[in-house]
Amino acid sequence: MRLLKTRRVFLRAAAAAAFVGTQTPNLLASAAPMTPDARELTLASGAKMPLIGLGTWEADPGVVGSAVQASLDAGCRHLDCAAAYRNEHEVGEALAASSVPRKEIFITSKLWNDRRRPADVEAALEKTLSRLGTDYLDLYLIHWPVVWAKDSVMKPDAQASLRETWQTLEKLVDAGKIKHIGVSNYNEAEVKELLSYARIRPAVNQIELHPRLPQTQLVKYCQSNDICVTAYSPLGRGSKTKAGLLTNPTVTRIAAVHGVSPASVLLRWNVQRGVVVIPKSVTPARIRQNLEEPWSFRLSDQELAAMATVDDGARFCSPPWSTFGDRTRRDDIFTSCLTRLASGIFAVASLDITK
Ligand code: A2P
Repeated sequence: MRLLKTRRVFLRAAAAAAFVGTQTPNLLASAAPMTPDARELTLASGAKMPLIGLGTWEADPGVVGSAVQASLDAGCRHLDCAAAYRNEHEVGEALAASSVPRKEIFITSKLWNDRRRPADVEAALEKTLSRLGTDYLDLYLIHWPVVWAKDSVMKPDAQASLRETWQTLEKLVDAGKIKHIGVSNYNEAEVKELLSYARIRPAVNQIELHPRLPQTQLVKYCQSNDICVTAYSPLGRGSKTKAGLLTNPTVTRIAAVHGVSPASVLLRWNVQRGVVVIPKSVTPARIRQNLEEPWSFRLSDQELAAMATVDDGARFCSPPWSTFGDRTRRDDIFTSCLTRLASGIFAVASLDITK
C-alpha cells in the first residue's frame, strides 16, 4: 500500500516535471492546501443536487441496471434518466433491488418531444414514475424546446405549446409528483422566454458541455438567474465520437500532473465552475473513478487557461430538431438533408416510449 502511494507520488512528480518541460513555467497547480469542495449544489428551492451523477443515455438495456447498482454501491446519489432512453424500467429494477432509501437519491427524468398537451404530459409522467418505481421525481425536464404532434417525429403540433406544457408541469409540482422542473437543450433566448411566463422558475437547464463546447455565456446567464446548469456528454462522449477529449494533449498533460485520469480532468473542469456533470458509464471501475477522483485535485488558473484553448465549439449531440444558434452553413445544409432522412427512419423505428 505504502509502496503504491510512494509510486503514485513519484509518478506525479515525474509527470509534473515532464509537463513543465513542455509548457510555460508556473503551469502547476498551486501548492496551497485545498479546502474540501461541496459535493452538492443548492438549488434555488434549497434542495441539494449532487454535482456528480450517473448518465444513462445510451446505456443499453441489459447493462444499465448493473451500472445503476454499481453507481449506488459506490455512493452515487444522482441518476439522470429519460423516457427516450428506453431503459427506465431497468433503472427502476435496480432502484427496487437497492437498499439505498429513495429519499437519498436525486432522480431526474425528461419529457419527450411528442408529449406536449396537458393530458399527454401527465400520462408520460405517470409512465416514467411507474417504470422507475417511484411516486415522485426530484426533477423533470422538457427534453428539447420543440412541440411535436403525439406519436410523431418532428411533425409540429399547432394546437400545443411549450408554455402550456410548462403550466402543466407546474400543476404536477403543486400535486407533489415532481419536486423541481426544468429544461434541457434550451438556448439563452428560449430560457428568457420561459422566464417571462414561468410561475415556477426552471431549476435546471441541462446542456452539452465539455472543454470543446464550454458555452460560457449560456452557463453564466443561467447561473446568474439561479438556474443550475447540468452538463451532458461531459466527456465528449468518450471514445464514441471523434471528440478526442480523453486523448487531447492538454487534457492528458494536466491529468499526468495531478496523477488522475483524463476523464477526471474533464469532470473537474465542469464541477469547478459549479456545473453538475452526469458522465455515462456502464463500467464499474470508471463509475467509481468518475465519482471520486474529480474531488482529489483542483485545476489552477493556468491550467484552466490551457483548457480554454481546447474550445472549438464542437457539438456531439446536434439532432435535426435542435435549435442551437451556433450552426455553420454546412451544418444547416447537412441538417436539412438529414431531417428528411431521419424523419423516415424514426417513423419506421418509432421511439416507442409509451411502453
Ligand atoms: P463506458 O460506458 O463503456 O464505460 P459522456 O458521458 O461524455 O457521454 O461519455 C460517455 C462515454 O465515455 C462512454 O462511452 C463511457 O464508456 C466512457 N467513459 C465513461 N467514464 C469514463 C472514464 N472514466 N474513462 C474513460 N471513458 C469513460
